[in-house]
Amino acid sequence: MLQFSKAVSSLRTSEIRDLMGLAINPDIISFAGGMPGNELFPVKEIDEIYNNLPLDIKQTGFQYGPTPGYEPLLESLNEYLKKKGLPVEKNRLLITTGSLQAINIIGKIFIDPDETIVTENPCFVGAISAFKSYQANLKGINLDEEGINLDLLDNYLNHSKSISPKFLYLTPNFHNPAGTLYTEKRKKELVPILQKHDLLLIEDDAYGELYFNEGAHKRIVPMKALYGDETPICYLGSFSKILGPGFRLGWMLAPPEIYQKAELVKQSLDACSPNFTQILANEFLRSGMLEKYVGKLRVIYKRRKETMAAAIRKYFPEEITWIEPEGGFYIWLKIPPKLDLTSILKAGIAKGAVFVVGKAFDPDGIDNSHFRLSYSHTPEDKIEKGIRILGETIKEALKG
Ligand SMILES: Cc1ncc(COP(=O)(O)O)c(C=O)c1O
Repeated sequence: MLQFSKAVSSLRTSEIRDLMGLAINPDIISFAGGMPGNELFPVKEIDEIYNNLPLDIKQTGFQYGPTPGYEPLLESLNEYLKKKGLPVEKNRLLITTGSLQAINIIGKIFIDPDETIVTENPCFVGAISAFKSYQANLKGINLDEEGINLDLLDNYLNHSKSISPKFLYLTPNFHNPAGTLYTEKRKKELVPILQKHDLLLIEDDAYGELYFNEGAHKRIVPMKALYGDETPICYLGSFSKILGPGFRLGWMLAPPEIYQKAELVKQSLDACSPNFTQILANEFLRSGMLEKYVGKLRVIYKRRKETMAAAIRKYFPEEITWIEPEGGFYIWLKIPPKLDLTSILKAGIAKGAVFVVGKAFDPDGIDNSHFRLSYSHTPEDKIEKGIRILGETIKEALKG
């Protein structure tokens, strides 16, 4: 019999991944996957970039590259991050194969079996499984409208001195799945708690560029830009939501002592991220095309969000409560306790619309009081139709 490792035996298959199969069925309207719409990708621009590359750069694209990343992309990204106010001089930048690899590298650097790490509850499902694959115990602290609940966090840390959690993982901008955008106050008040408990912060900023209004734009300033000098922070970003997940490119801006370990770990994982996509991403960023393209995405995603929000108001019963997001990909909705989300999901799929149940995002895999709708990869006419289907399904379930 095959003897799998303890780490891999503890992993459960992700409900999102299982449901992604359904998203491919063209008859089902999927609000499940957290991905950009295929029709939005800048295919023409990338065609043009590739066609205009000199032969030697094209050849470099086929080759292995340095572990830290393709040098011109490191330079362009440093500039890009500097403009966001990030302390690029005092830190080091590592290109990763998607930001999920950066999350895994952090896990590998810091987690020994049975050690504890702290996350938000809910939490990005990829981070939950990455941390679990290093046999971490996860402690989820509830999110409220302004960010992670600091009383709960401080209280937990005060009572877990003997456990000594390794780090805190947060997504302050347009959280996946909750859509939350942290207030400045919450970010500021988190700093003394991190200092008091000597806790490293992992700040995941996969969605910050996708804001829908100026108020939100002002609030996306990374914690590392604001407080990087006061407390250790590893800042993670990604090209997945602003260019394409198929590029598999992310990054980590880390204090030098963490960077050194991260580079060693990356060397052992995949030696380097693809030169091919790094070259294309570098040209896209350096030429100013990225900025223009992201400007277009903001308008389109905002429209999709507004269409979904209007349809929810029209078709969902008022027992379903939610907060309208100001950026990102997701709406997170709360159901009354008497409803069973799994039955609603099954009925919804039978009628032609799918979403993700909340327990997928609970580090303990239990709390099913919410569900996540993603508007990012569904055109507006389908959004309206899919929400009508789900509204009818929920109303029927309420009637019992
Ligand atoms: C919060 C968050 N972080 C990281 C990722 C991973 O992105 P990637 O590995 O494609 O860069 C995602 C993807 O959905 C995400 O939602």
